[in-house]
Amino acid sequence: MERLQKVLAQAGVASRRKCEDLIREGRVQVNGVTVRELGTKVDPQQDEIRVDGRPIRRESYVYLLLYKPTGVITSLRDPAGRPVVTDLLHGVKQRVFPVGRLDYDTSGLLLLTNDGDMANRIAHPSFEIEKVYHAWVKGVPAMKSIRLLAEGVPLEDGMTAPAKARLIREDTAGGRALLELTIHEGRNRQVRRMCSAVGHPVLALKRIRLGFLTLDGLTPGQYRYLTEDEVARLKRELLVPSPRL
Ligand code: URA
Repeated sequence: MERLQKVLAQAGVASRRKCEDLIREGRVQVNGVTVRELGTKVDPQQDEIRVDGRPIRRESYVYLLLYKPTGVITSLRDPAGRPVVTDLLHGVKQRVFPVGRLDYDTSGLLLLTNDGDMANRIAHPSFEIEKVYHAWVKGVPAMKSIRLLAEGVPLEDGMTAPAKARLIREDTAGGRALLELTIHEGRNRQVRRMCSAVGHPVLALKRIRLGFLTLDGLTPGQYRYLTEDEVARLKRELLVPSPRL
């Protein structure tokens, strides 16, 4: 249970002080009853709270940037009992969910939020958020394969959209190479399928960037809250879909 003015402020209605005024002025209803007592305790998940008759948003929005380690499922629970990404969060009260997904054996940048609209926009290819991956692949791809990855690869669910692909390290002795792939789509196991399709199966995969967000300052398993500036910038970039699609 929490104080009504705190719940109102956290839901973004107004400042704590202004919310206290709203309560005193009789503009706040809890479960259909007008409440004027400042100390009133409410359950933000259960109680129906309205201001001037309009329901408030139940929780404040939070945006977390997690460095997902391998060996963790991008889900809220796993019937097989394996660790899930939300097991890595401590003291986050809001019920956040992952934006898109990284495979069990993929590491890297994963956003979690309780803002469904933002999550849909990030996941939708028409907003053209860049997703950058580092993939260790088997063998050293020739220029022709790299060009194919960039131009489009036929997969069972259709051609991939144009991407950026470059070779960043050749380990000829080790029979492997490190590729950087930048894609806008988010199909299931897309990078792994693209690399396999050009004859270079992925050995290890990490997402290093999502739009302007990077993993800087985090180690696997750590997370941080996005700053207000980052959230504002993300919202600006997600405001208008790409005119090309
Ligand atoms: N592409 C993949 O193949 N796997 C991921 O986890 C992310 C992108």
